[in-house]
Amino acid sequence: MGSIVIIGTQWGDEGKGRVVDVYAANASTVVRYQGGDNAGHTVKIGEQHYALHLIPSGIVRQKPSILGNGMVINPKSLLKEITDLEATGLEVRPYLFIAEEAHMIMPYHLALDGLSERAMGDGKIGTTLKGIGPAYTDKFSRTHGLRIGDLRNAAYFRARLEAIVADKNAIITKLYGSTDTFDAGAIFDEYLGYYAEIGGMIRDTAGMIAAALRRGEDVVFEGANATMLDIDHGTYPFVTCSTPTAGGAAVGAGVGPTAIDHVIGVVKAYTSRVGAGPFPTELPDATGDRIRELGHEYGTTTGRPRRCGWLDLCVLRKAARVNGLDYLAVTHLDILDEFADIPVCVGYEIDGARVDVFPANVWEVEKATPIYEVLPGWRQPIADCRDFDALPVNARRYLHRVSELVGVPVCMITVGSERSQTIVMREAVTR
Ligand code: IMP
Repeated sequence: MGSIVIIGTQWGDEGKGRVVDVYAANASTVVRYQGGDNAGHTVKIGEQHYALHLIPSGIVRQKPSILGNGMVINPKSLLKEITDLEATGLEVRPYLFIAEEAHMIMPYHLALDGLSERAMGDGKIGTTLKGIGPAYTDKFSRTHGLRIGDLRNAAYFRARLEAIVADKNAIITKLYGSTDTFDAGAIFDEYLGYYAEIGGMIRDTAGMIAAALRRGEDVVFEGANATMLDIDHGTYPFVTCSTPTAGGAAVGAGVGPTAIDHVIGVVKAYTSRVGAGPFPTELPDATGDRIRELGHEYGTTTGRPRRCGWLDLCVLRKAARVNGLDYLAVTHLDILDEFADIPVCVGYEIDGARVDVFPANVWEVEKATPIYEVLPGWRQPIADCRDFDALPVNARRYLHRVSELVGVPVCMITVGSERSQTIVMREAVTR
């Protein structure tokens, strides 16, 4: 199999968790390399749903599951997630390892996420309000970031925390005019309490991954959020604060790029987006509403209704380029079962010119009019298909055409939300 990066190609919620679940079966280790509890990955086995926000989906296969150095971790959320998963009967703690270098989300990060969004009014991003942006901003400031490993030295942690909290309180009161300040001593006690619970999981995780690779084992690098939310390659500024794209796996897990054998891009058969920002193929009409209902498109992390629209191949071409995609895993194909015509966006018209790849700037994207190719629907249920050849001819044509227009073969298809409703190709569907 080789070591694989699994990454969302659109604006998130493509179904990465269940794709990771398939490939984790043959891997020794699964690693999350960026983001935090803004993500929501789901694996459904029979009637059992596993909701994952921070913990890699490999935990469902009871594999060593690493929270990599590129992540920002809210220890309170992590403990809740551990407890919730344990309540389903999964063993979690023996399989969970946390990078010393991963940054912590602190209570003031959540407060500042909300204060900044409120202050920006119409210019807000529509974040998940989980403190992700403020935590990464502090990481890169160097002066204000606190890492999981800092908990191992209580005196060092306390001294830095006191200086940082004084500065945060000044921002909260003087910049935002709020009186909801923070007490460094209370945060210190709270976080040492978390350390008592998770301290035993802190490891040199990059060393663990290197050792697994040396033994010839395969590792799955699980991307969260998605390509179009990437801080560099997404629809800036309507993006998250990390590097979900494949290159981020090397930095965020602590491996060299040569450790990655393949990159799989997860593609929802249509498009959804939650939060603000441009979305050229959005359907703000009854068809969009219908897709939302059929696809249960409500945020797993925030419960917000997702914006829905047709598949956008300009987005996928960009994802193929910036991630070096080897394969596409096409999810939610069954959601399109009832549509007679299925338009896919093959290009844009911008200022009278034809454009084939998603532009870099949001002000250009805002001018884009999608150019559609309309593919015939299959108008029959596909939920029971377990083989590519069992799919209706128009569903196969749809997959072939998408693969052809993006220039990347399809290796996997999902036809329902349950684990077994998956078609893994013995030979990738090629263009
Ligand atoms: P943040 O990551 O909370 O700062 O949010 C920044 C933007 O990314 C917002 O539009 C969020 O809705 C979006 N976002 C972040 N993570 C995800 C995800 O996992 N799925 C979908 N959207 C996400």
